[in-house]
Amino acid sequence: MKLENIVDINKYPIHDLNSKVIKELIKKNKNDLDQFSCCIIPNFILPKSVKTMLAEVEKKLDGVYWSQESINPYLNSKDELSLSKDHPKRIFSKRNNGYLNSDLFEKDSELKFLYEQQELLNFVSACVGISPIYRWADPLACHAYNMMKPGSILPWHFDSCEFTLSILIQKPEKEGVFEYCPNIREPGNENFDEIKKVLDGDRKRVRQSKLEPGDLQIFKGRFTLHRVTKVEGKRSRYLAIPAYVLDPWRVNTPEHSRAVYGKVLPIHIERNNVRSDGLAD
Ligand SMILES: [Fe+2]
Repeated sequence: MKLENIVDINKYPIHDLNSKVIKELIKKNKNDLDQFSCCIIPNFILPKSVKTMLAEVEKKLDGVYWSQESINPYLNSKDELSLSKDHPKRIFSKRNNGYLNSDLFEKDSELKFLYEQQELLNFVSACVGISPIYRWADPLACHAYNMMKPGSILPWHFDSCEFTLSILIQKPEKEGVFEYCPNIREPGNENFDEIKKVLDGDRKRVRQSKLEPGDLQIFKGRFTLHRVTKVEGKRSRYLAIPAYVLDPWRVNTPEHSRAVYGKVLPIHIERNNVRSDGLAD
């Protein structure tokens, strides 16, 4: 398996960060990420590899964990009764989608291979302007597929990883649109009032990104409130979501792992400490 069979390296020579074309791309992406917490690199993955990833998803459909649990924006389903009734942590929305967990991938998975390439990590690190960043230690979540059938919805939330990549593998016929509110929170500022406004339907901060199969999106999932609108039509939406983090040790909390990925592993219990950035999970 080779990087050049997965990524269009003629267009995007990410193995050479000093090339003129990549330097310019990094500059543009960094500007977009600083301003909007999100950037898109069109046709980054070769069509043949998108097809291979689609085949991987379709082969493993039986292994997908589907969940219909309502969640708050911190991907938590537990109600904190001590908070006021209208606190964002106490606002639960219907969620209905699935995950093909990273531990179910075959050894020859192209997505897994891509995720393990240092070239991709270095490129993303340069785009977000932070070094070092790390592959995520969570064995279920690190390079999963997010699955949305017709009627599925993914409500407003933050990711527990700092930097989420999104590669659209199959586009739905209608809707299933990614919406996000750039830089709405940061360490030391949860910004609950602004988050509440978005949950109540205020569209002032909301942006949309229109992804096509093979595009790579990089966004700051931990600081960017985001959602996917309800998938309509007959075709499911499949999205590869490899992710990078600032802490190479941390994994999802047991509660988060159970609610989203359908199981809790010993590592989730062993590493369940308070987060150093102080933000809610
Ligand atoms: Fe997310």
